[in-house]
Amino acid sequence: MQEIAPLPSVGRNDGKNRIMEYIFLKSEVREDGITIMTVSAPKSLNALNSTVLREIDDFVSNLDTQKTRVLIITGDGEKSFVAGADISEMVHLYEKEGYEFSKLGAIAFRKIELLPIPVIAAVNGFCLGGGCELAMACDFRYASSNAKFGQPEVGLGITPGFSGTYRLAKLIGQGYAKEMIYTGKAIRADEALRIGLVNAVYAPEELMERVIETAQKIVANAPLAIRYAKECINESYDMVAADAIELENRNFGKCFATEDQKAGMTAFLNKEKPSFKGC
Ligand code: HXC
Repeated sequence: MQEIAPLPSVGRNDGKNRIMEYIFLKSEVREDGITIMTVSAPKSLNALNSTVLREIDDFVSNLDTQKTRVLIITGDGEKSFVAGADISEMVHLYEKEGYEFSKLGAIAFRKIELLPIPVIAAVNGFCLGGGCELAMACDFRYASSNAKFGQPEVGLGITPGFSGTYRLAKLIGQGYAKEMIYTGKAIRADEALRIGLVNAVYAPEELMERVIETAQKIVANAPLAIRYAKECINESYDMVAADAIELENRNFGKCFATEDQKAGMTAFLNKEKPSFKGC
């Protein structure tokens, strides 16, 4: 995968958790194995400019996926997850820069998709254009009831980017994806739920609690088994059936080389709760 020039990042410790600081990202590394990455550009409803995209790439590239077992991605404030790519930056671009801008986000978002841990988007408001594209790079999405989803790009004279056409059609099917993209219309959270763009909808004040609850359930399970399962699901999409089935057989077999498989099955037979070590 192509490398993006690294950004300086500053780490500090608040006594409990390590906090990394960027200009447009906040992050919280919790002791329960959950890390929350928050896109924070309040003046533009968390729009993605090229610095934010570089920061996301840097953050994901440097994430300690031994310590972090689930990553949650959200937006700062109560109004917006991410209102799209930054239009004030894109307005000045020509063809080559447009291509590079899309590629910058595509590479960063692909790194999110390929992380060996689950990534959940907590969609807390506007989730438009590049915001929807960021959310779709996550493994699944929970939304607040005030969230709005859309691909308004054609109204700005551009196509979706950051792999949005690819992932949206994959996720909700070509018919709904084409309708959303051609009309540019925004849909409400309940409609996003109906078409499978999000897995659940909660009241805004409940959203993060519910996402964390799900993340904690994931953390309680065997990390290598989750990693292998994620790899099967991600990779099998672009494979012929025989290769996908063989990949699953291989990853299933690999689980039997782990201590966690012995621990999990022994605990079940002893009517105990397993404790997984990730090896
Ligand atoms: C830059 C943005 C922005 C964006 C909002 N702002 N979205 N700036 N890029 N994507 C800024 C506004 O200009 C405004 O700045 C401030 O945030 C608050 O927004 P308002 O419009 O005043 O808020 P509101 O009236 O509540 O409307 C919210 C909104 C609207 C419906 C989300 O802001 C909107 O339509 N935004 C654009 C959404 C969009 O088209 N996204 C797709 C972008 S294209 P000021 O300075 O006036 O306070 C894209 C391509 C991805 O994402 C692929 C790239 C390769």
